[in-house]
Amino acid sequence: MLSLLSLSVFLLIVYPTLPSQARFTRRANNSDVLKWVNPLIGSKSGGNVFAGATLPYGMAKDGSQITGFSAMHDSGTGGNPSLGNFPIFPQLCPEDDLNNCKFPIKARATHYRNDTIKAEPGYFGVTLDNGIVADMAVSKRAALFRFNFPTNGTGNASSLSPLIMLDLTDLWSSRQNASISIDATEGSDSGRIRGNGTFLPSFGAGSYVLHFCLDVAGGKVKDSGMWVNNRSGTEPKELFVTRGFNLFYLEAGGFIRLQGPVTNAIYARIGVSFISSDQACGSAEKEIPGPDFDLDVLVSSAKEAWRRKLTPITIETGGVDGSLQTSFWSAIYRTMISPQDYTGENPHWESSEPYFDSFYCIWDMWRVQLPFLTIMDPEVQSRLVRSLLDIYKHRGWLPDCSMSTCKGWTQGGSDADNVLVDAYVKNLTGIDWELAYEAIVNDAENEPLEWSIQGRGGLMSWKRVNYIPYLDYDYLGFGTNSRSISRTLEYSYNDFCLSTLAKGLGKDDSTKYLSRASNWQNIFKGDQKSLINGTDTGFTGFFQPKYLNGSWGYQDPIACSPLADFCSLTSNPSETFESSCWEYMFFVPHDVRKVISLLGGPETFIRRLDYFHTSGLADIGNEPVFLTVYMPHYAGRPGLSSKRVHSYIPSRFNSSTDGLPGNDDSGAMASFTLFACIGLFPNPGQNVYFITPPFFKSVSITNQITNNTATIRNLNFDKEYKNIYIQKATLNGEPYTKNWIGHEFFTQGWTLELTLGQIESDWGTKEEDLPPSMSTGNMKML
Ligand SMILES: *[C@@H]1O[C@H](CO)[C@@H](O)[C@H](O)[C@H]1NC(C)=O
Ligand SMILES: *[C@@H]1O[C@H](CO)[C@@H](O)[C@H](O)[C@H]1NC(C)=O
Ligand SMILES: *[C@@H]1O[C@H](CO)[C@@H](O)[C@H](O)[C@H]1NC(C)=O
Ligand SMILES: *[C@@H]1O[C@H](CO)[C@@H](O)[C@H](O)[C@H]1NC(C)=O
Ligand SMILES: *[C@@H]1O[C@H](CO)[C@@H](O)[C@H](O)[C@H]1NC(C)=O
Ligand SMILES: *[C@@H]1O[C@H](CO)[C@@H](O)[C@H](O)[C@H]1NC(C)=O
Ligand SMILES: *[C@@H]1O[C@H](CO)[C@@H](O)[C@H](O)[C@H]1NC(C)=O
Ligand SMILES: *[C@@H]1O[C@H](CO)[C@@H](O)[C@H](O)[C@H]1NC(C)=O
Ligand SMILES: *[C@@H]1O[C@H](CO)[C@@H](O)[C@H](O)[C@H]1NC(C)=O
Ligand SMILES: *[C@@H]1O[C@H](CO)[C@@H](O)[C@H](O)[C@H]1NC(C)=O
Ligand SMILES: *[C@@H]1O[C@H](CO)[C@@H](O)[C@H](O)[C@H]1NC(C)=O
Ligand SMILES: *[C@@H]1O[C@H](CO)[C@@H](O)[C@H](O)[C@H]1NC(C)=O
Repeated sequence: MLSLLSLSVFLLIVYPTLPSQARFTRRANNSDVLKWVNPLIGSKSGGNVFAGATLPYGMAKDGSQITGFSAMHDSGTGGNPSLGNFPIFPQLCPEDDLNNCKFPIKARATHYRNDTIKAEPGYFGVTLDNGIVADMAVSKRAALFRFNFPTNGTGNASSLSPLIMLDLTDLWSSRQNASISIDATEGSDSGRIRGNGTFLPSFGAGSYVLHFCLDVAGGKVKDSGMWVNNRSGTEPKELFVTRGFNLFYLEAGGFIRLQGPVTNAIYARIGVSFISSDQACGSAEKEIPGPDFDLDVLVSSAKEAWRRKLTPITIETGGVDGSLQTSFWSAIYRTMISPQDYTGENPHWESSEPYFDSFYCIWDMWRVQLPFLTIMDPEVQSRLVRSLLDIYKHRGWLPDCSMSTCKGWTQGGSDADNVLVDAYVKNLTGIDWELAYEAIVNDAENEPLEWSIQGRGGLMSWKRVNYIPYLDYDYLGFGTNSRSISRTLEYSYNDFCLSTLAKGLGKDDSTKYLSRASNWQNIFKGDQKSLINGTDTGFTGFFQPKYLNGSWGYQDPIACSPLADFCSLTSNPSETFESSCWEYMFFVPHDVRKVISLLGGPETFIRRLDYFHTSGLADIGNEPVFLTVYMPHYAGRPGLSSKRVHSYIPSRFNSSTDGLPGNDDSGAMASFTLFACIGLFPNPGQNVYFITPPFFKSVSITNQITNNTATIRNLNFDKEYKNIYIQKATLNGEPYTKNWIGHEFFTQGWTLELTLGQIESDWGTKEEDLPPSMSTGNMKML
């Protein structure tokens, strides 16, 4: 949530225009699906969603003023604003005097006209208060902007000369240094500005260099030059800016002016690259050829790419409200904005493997977003996994978080492990499993010097005392020595996943890791109570910090919940990360049945879940909470999972611009909505989906590798959602009583029919119907 995730888009469309061997499946009629996609959902009030083909620079933050348009964006991120590099901005300078142009950010900030924002997949348009109309579209590595300038009051084109400026900055002025050069001969048909800048990643270590290549066309070049703060000149044509004393920040960039009056549209095309400005120019020329630009063509091909990406899924709405359809399709769209395919743009090593960036961060993504791509776009998910492994191969570590080609901060465990094993249990193809095993063992066994950016800390204690101690003695590596509880829980699950892979590959250390997967039990304090304002909540038994010597420390179980302070790496660091002991009590994805018994059995467990969700302790806007919604499945009450999810959708996840309860985190909030609507919710790392009634009459998904179509259908569906309890179910026509199902459902294309009613039934409630748990021995291992 806060500093997490999401990320970015190399250009909005990068991901969906991946080599689309997207198979056209039997589903044909999705021609109108895009009308249900509203890119503005979550763009306000903390969702931090990237709204457009290119986002008005800075809009994600305040929405009122525009200071430029950038081709580089992240979506849904918390922390520092990410990317937004090299914004360009159009203007007419009074009396055509350069001294009257507004170059610095504060000076040029311009309001936009209300109700002029048009955001569609692959397109973004807005009209500024000064009458300049800006429209934009993108290709993979380039963007095209079309500017129409206002008339001068008589209906004639303004006699002024339009100026397009570029600012050598990003969204948070992280630029360390930059170079720029201009080639724009007076009187020629276009001018070019190219250059590069070194910037800092928004939630990570090191720095990155980004290159650009901007062409301005649509009239004769009048003049060009540089600007520094609020001064400018037609000389020099090359400039280098850096930081000096006290890291002083100079605002600077270049500009090109076209001879006015200009009656037609002015175009600005910008290519970007992490490799070189030559490559940026090359991509721009190849993807958006000039000299005559056509924005509409670009918009249509972007839309077509999006349509293709939405092809695998169809719904029978059953008459539900249009706003739910908007939430649904828009959520799918948001899952594909990030991570981004930077294949061919990796400045760090050469490889024939795919290179994806903007895993921002895996802590957020492994739970629902990547599992969603696994069913929606398994081919891309395989490429994502391969790219993680290629990073391991070349950097020596799996990433936990990455952005703009830099390493991001680790939030908990080594969660790429979970991603790899989820791919394994779901049989994704083309992946080197031996390499995956090696990479995960590396996380489990070797402590890196800097575990704030990779791997795990505290491994000496992990192996010796079998938990991460509170205030650990760890001289092997460096990291934020907090989060002892949440790290113990995450490492336990990481090791569980490793044991699954080890077993599948026939390695003899699978039992060793299975035993480490129980380490979470060592920090369970059975007599711990929880008080709120002095009143006992009545629930006993919570995870607590434990010192290296075995003595208990103390963290108030409600600390780090919405009733207390938010806890991140830097703000209020605590023994639990971004969630409370209350919430983490439910984070044992591989042994929920054991948790249930430790907490006093199914009845108390259900009461605790209810209390958690209704007392304000649950933070539905952050990822660790997601699985708690479906925990009743393990207590033999699948109907209560269904009831709970209806209490959050649409009240907390809906189609308004502030319709997300937290940072979208690269599509995590989106994916929670999606799995809930589909009626199958994953427990990733295991071949398990919890069954609840879909929010539509039926949902069908065609697997893009096997071409089989899976359908989950409600009988007795009502759009008012009175019938939300499964009475009975059939799988391919045969009675089905388990309250969960495996991924074969999708790959084999099975049909699940759920008969609904208004009250809980005994469907899915028996011992043998419950999802697997490690300690009950029904854990289905490969
Ligand atoms: C596709 O769907 C639209 C809207 O639901 C409908 O009007 C149209 O007839 C359908 N086209 C085909 C080929 O089924
Ligand atoms: C435009 O929207 C802003 C922010 O919502 C509002 O403050 C302003 O009054 C609106 N202006 C007009 C002309 O509607
Ligand atoms: C354009 O300007 C000329 C000269 O000022 C004026 O005669 C003409 O009416 C204007 N055209 C329009 C469409 O207003
Ligand atoms: C508007 O532009 C036309 C031609 O471009 C020019 O003749 C006229 O004087 C301008 N009018 C104003 C009010 O600037
Ligand atoms: C630009 O900044 C980066 C990061 O501080 C530094 O490594 C690099 O040497 C600088 N480049 C120049 C040319 O000064
Ligand atoms: C940035 O551009 C300048 C000027 O063309 C060039 O000298 C420099 O090598 C470039 N920096 C990088 C990191 O490519
Ligand atoms: C230009 O910037 C200087 C220094 O920030 C400021 O004092 C001055 O008022 C600015 N001039 C204009 C015309 O904005
Ligand atoms: C994966 O492959 C194995 C062996 O062919 C098969 O038993 C299993 O059902 C497959 N799993 C999925 C999710 O398709
Ligand atoms: C605890 O008491 C304070 C002060 O009376 C009050 O503001 C707060 O809302 C209470 N918190 C809860 C969770 O009841
Ligand atoms: C264990 O260590 C903690 C922290 O140093 C200390 O407060 C506690 O007294 C120790 N317990 C024992 C039994 O030594
Ligand atoms: C939509 O979701 C937001 C964020 O969770 C919430 O504040 C708002 O009340 C919801 N709107 C509706 C109509 O439910
Ligand atoms: C799926 O369909 C595509 C496109 O028709 C085809 O190329 C591919 O071979 C099919 N895959 C399988 C497993 O049948």
